[in-house]
Amino acid sequence: MEKQLYRPHFHFIPESNWINDPNGLCYLEGEYHLFYQHHPKSKVWGPMHWGHAVSRDLLHWEHLPIALYPDENGQIFSGSAVVDEENTSGLQEGETPVMIALFTHHQEGHETQSIAYSKDKGRSWTKYPHNPVIENPGLKDFRDPKMFRYEDVWMMILACGDHIRFYQSENLLDWAYVSSFGQAYGTHGGVWECPDLIRFQTEEGGKWVLIVSINPGGPNGGSAIQYFTGDFDGKVFHCDQPKEQVKWADFGRDFYAAVTWSNLSYPLWIGWMSNWQYANEVPTHPFRGSMSSPRKLSLRKVEGDYQLVQEPVDVSPLAERTESKSLHLVAAETASHKLSKQSHVIIDYEYPSVPFELSIKGEGEKVTMKFDPSTSNFSLDRTEVKNTQFSEHFASVDSISLKHMEDMELIIDECSVEIFLNQGTIVMTELFYMDTELFTLEWEAGDSEIKVDYQVQELSTALQK
Ligand code: FRU
Repeated sequence: MEKQLYRPHFHFIPESNWINDPNGLCYLEGEYHLFYQHHPKSKVWGPMHWGHAVSRDLLHWEHLPIALYPDENGQIFSGSAVVDEENTSGLQEGETPVMIALFTHHQEGHETQSIAYSKDKGRSWTKYPHNPVIENPGLKDFRDPKMFRYEDVWMMILACGDHIRFYQSENLLDWAYVSSFGQAYGTHGGVWECPDLIRFQTEEGGKWVLIVSINPGGPNGGSAIQYFTGDFDGKVFHCDQPKEQVKWADFGRDFYAAVTWSNLSYPLWIGWMSNWQYANEVPTHPFRGSMSSPRKLSLRKVEGDYQLVQEPVDVSPLAERTESKSLHLVAAETASHKLSKQSHVIIDYEYPSVPFELSIKGEGEKVTMKFDPSTSNFSLDRTEVKNTQFSEHFASVDSISLKHMEDMELIIDECSVEIFLNQGTIVMTELFYMDTELFTLEWEAGDSEIKVDYQVQELSTALQK
């Protein structure tokens, strides 16, 4: 077997070569479909295809043949898929509902939207003969269509550089422009990409969240995901937050282009775990890029403001060993715990306003998470990892404003940590490349005592198929 470098075990990666955005996420008859931006011949971004995999538990993935290849209309950029359960398209023949993908054709900078469909649960695909189904109205950026059902029509949200546009369809094949949103809202430090619109049930009724990836312009540099809360009336998105307010889905450097699964009864999304600043240079082999953990979404009011809450998929079916411990450290004391490189850690902090440092250590290198309540700051420092030279943008100290620390959940898999703070209301996803057999988790108390209860699950290292 070819030498593998920094290969995650339960995060999705392609069999080899390049991967970026998740595409075409939909659920049909027990299978979660994951398509993805893929260059099958190289570890750097190039002519885009849609790779394909399915999972029944979101932990183990089965690779399937490439679903969509570039054609005379161009490369296959990002997009979405739905299962047309009511046969609104009229394309269904037998019992099996048709899966319809709407994606961007990208041809020498010219972007249009096109369709492909599958009558055999995503195993084989036919391009629609009348592509493209949406012509470009003269916009440089015009991509990443995400479809969703609204009452008895289909809606689609599209990224258009500095704003998003909504389109509507009865049959998934003919689309009409409806409205746009965004020029005056949020942050515009980069181009808007990969949007989504999600309805949440809250105590006050329904609330909508509009998701937009932005690159560059993230809170800690490069690619990141902002979101807006509001209402959607089937035509127009009415944002209910101040125009200049910016909400981030993830404060880390490595969570981008996330969108939700279609045909599921609850919101579940997955993102690409990388950043365009250095995605083409990360030192992995024979693949480059991976997906995040799938995360369940909900919306919660925190101090009067709606906040997106993320809960990673339950990894405990992969647990081979579980250990629970309590720690009590006083001024400058340290404590450590050997950690498998595939671990799930849950930590409860008894004193939520006490400073501490928590490191993931290798041999002579470490990633350090630091909480400082006096400056209301939580940071992750990956400057003390040796393998950062592949890009001048990689070594960084990334931070979030955080007043108190109640609990922390870490999902660690070889070269990544996903950090969920305070019941998933704050999230940070970061890559790091350390050469070691095992990690060590090390706590260091600041000048006051810390008291924590924690649980470590060592996860299976049996590689995905
Ligand atoms: C986001 C993105 C999309 C585009 C795709 C191309 O990462 O730039 O906007 O469709 O990647 O691979």
